[in-house]
Amino acid sequence: MTMGPERIRRQKSLRFLLQEFALRPSDVVLPLFINDLPAGSSRDITSMPGVRQWTVDDVRPFAARAVEAGVRSFILFGIVGKNTKTASGEAAWDREGPVVRALRAFRKDFGTEVNLFADACFCEYTNHGHCGPITISGLESRREHAETLVGLGKMSTEYAEAGANVVAPSGMVDGMVRHIRGALDAEGHPDVAICSYSVKLASSFYGPFRDAAENAPEFGDRRGYQMDPGSLREATREIMNDEAEGADMLLIKPGMPCLDLIRLAREKSALPVGAYQVSGEYSMLKAAAQAGYLNEEASFLESLLAMKRAGAGFIITYWAMEALAALRKV
Ligand code: PBG
Repeated sequence: MTMGPERIRRQKSLRFLLQEFALRPSDVVLPLFINDLPAGSSRDITSMPGVRQWTVDDVRPFAARAVEAGVRSFILFGIVGKNTKTASGEAAWDREGPVVRALRAFRKDFGTEVNLFADACFCEYTNHGHCGPITISGLESRREHAETLVGLGKMSTEYAEAGANVVAPSGMVDGMVRHIRGALDAEGHPDVAICSYSVKLASSFYGPFRDAAENAPEFGDRRGYQMDPGSLREATREIMNDEAEGADMLLIKPGMPCLDLIRLAREKSALPVGAYQVSGEYSMLKAAAQAGYLNEEASFLESLLAMKRAGAGFIITYWAMEALAALRKV
């Protein structure tokens, strides 16, 4: 009988030679949740074992350990207390807010050795938890488009000013990339890149993040702006729009549930494409590993590799430090 591909799989050295995709240490971006509390008030996030919410002071030594372990890219999310949240979310561009302070500290600590992505969205700063100011009339609620864009411009320039070299708008607002590009250029930050969350599904896999970032919507949901998981053609529109508006990188989110969309972005655009292995994906694998149902390292590495194979050039993952440790072993 004639052998097929089995022949090239039999010997490890040949498998190693012929392997097409691999996760590289430079591929991972570590998300950090930063709160506005005094030093010592960092806390574990129950629904994301191994992930913490940090104060600005406490996160510095942790980030230094991450850099030591090989992390070269961070994405920062801010958390503010209930009393700081307002209907229009202006705490997002507060010069003394947690993200701005952490960005300044990290630039000081790490210079240009690291990439600092700043997530730009309202939902951690609005008292209703939506990704932009909302008007309610009767039972209907609607995001205020113009006001949302203006705020995104303000927070983006504030983050750039503090040291972000990448701004990552995640609110799925039409025209957000063009508006932010204009604001950054006008305020003297033409060299700060925009990583647009191009296709972000209205996904149930963000569940643990809402716990971590304390940004669950008070009413309604995000289906009025995030993409329906049953849609596909819309993803092409999002990708093409972001590219035309001047995005420097595209992000697809969540990761494993969107492998087809990662591939779509890879094929439709020449821009770098990233994937976000979101909180629910992390917690799901972590919980199964803790229960002894899955091997943590093997299953995480395989899921990250699947995103690379689909076309992702970089991956935002809460498992970044573990990934680097695992890669050192091979
Ligand atoms: C908010 C934002 C979300 C995530 C990143 N930015 C959550 C949401 O839309 O509720 C999700 C990340 C994750 O689940 O890990 N704009």
